[in-house]
Amino acid sequence: MSLRTVVLAKIIEKRALAPQTHMLKLAAPRVARHAQPGQFVIVRVSEGGERVPFTIADADPSAGTITLVIQEIGDTTKAIGAMSAGDSLQDLLGPLGAPSEVETFGTVVLLGGGFGIAAIHMLTRALRDAGNRIISIIGARTRDLLIMENEMRAASDELIVTTDDGSAGEKGLVTQALERVISREPVHRVVAVGPIPMMRAVAEVTRPHGIKTIVSLNPVMVDGTGMCGGCRVEVGGETKFACVDGPEFDAHIVNFDELVSRNRMYTEFERGLRTDCKINRLTAAG
Ligand SMILES: Cc1cc2nc3c(=O)[nH]c(=O)nc-3n(C[C@H](O)[C@H](O)[C@H](O)COP(=O)(O)OP(=O)(O)OC[C@H]3O[C@@H](n4cnc5c(N)ncnc54)[C@H](O)[C@@H]3O)c2cc1C
Ligand code: FES
Repeated sequence: MSLRTVVLAKIIEKRALAPQTHMLKLAAPRVARHAQPGQFVIVRVSEGGERVPFTIADADPSAGTITLVIQEIGDTTKAIGAMSAGDSLQDLLGPLGAPSEVETFGTVVLLGGGFGIAAIHMLTRALRDAGNRIISIIGARTRDLLIMENEMRAASDELIVTTDDGSAGEKGLVTQALERVISREPVHRVVAVGPIPMMRAVAEVTRPHGIKTIVSLNPVMVDGTGMCGGCRVEVGGETKFACVDGPEFDAHIVNFDELVSRNRMYTEFERGLRTDCKINRLTAAG
């Protein structure tokens, strides 16, 4: 494993992609050299701060930079949102996680929602370079929340955009567009990254058709190296650690109920409703 820690990762460029969603280009030469689709980094904004994972949306080995797309959700992501080009993150560890499977499958449909659009970007390009026909489906609630439409169009043979309110592309959900594509032509593989309900719904669309479906799971992570147990998920009746065994798994055998309930426990802790969360004691310990 070519794991690197970058101390004081400098923000080379930062721009807003949508309200509360930021694109950051960071100086991380050795991470950029080794990054593969599907991998992520764990960053800290300050010493003693929370460790938070973000997917590598792009990597440029010649410039020595990686790109992250960060959605403001809580304290750490808001702190990053308030930073500017020239500022530095305290540290950045990566590339972490198992790389995505990149082979010639045939027709691959990639679905992205929210920051999941950025998370499928590198994989979309790699799968197309491997000779697959790429149909990308990206969705958002409204037009102004839609990100990376041009980049995804350039990386795909066909791009379908959906919004809940019809303000851009088709009105409806990404899963409705997926159903239509499946009824129209043979699909050999589906990859979905986004909110848990979206990934779960995609799994239920493809299950009756027996189409291999990959999702990128987002449990709470702390060390990112398989040591703390924070990112435990159940897949095919077995315990897996998303940070080293994933984050990508076969959607048809993921225990989504367990994932939802573990993330809910963490959210309650963040809101101060619980004090018995081992994960946060580890985080607080640095
Ligand atoms: C492998 C992976 C890749 C991810 N990629 C991206 C990305 O590219 N862009 C992006 O915007 N977000 C990404 N996320 C989610 C991102 O890590 C969380 O939004 C972030 O940690 C929230 O931290 P916070 O302090 O701002 O919010 P908090 O208030 O601390 O948490 C808000 C919610 O975020 C989740 N969360 C918090 N801390 C963690 C943590 N350490 N690990 C995982 N989830 C956490 C929990 O569900 C929590 O309820 C990814 C998560 C994982 C596991
Ligand atoms: S984050 Fe995966 S085991 Fe600690």
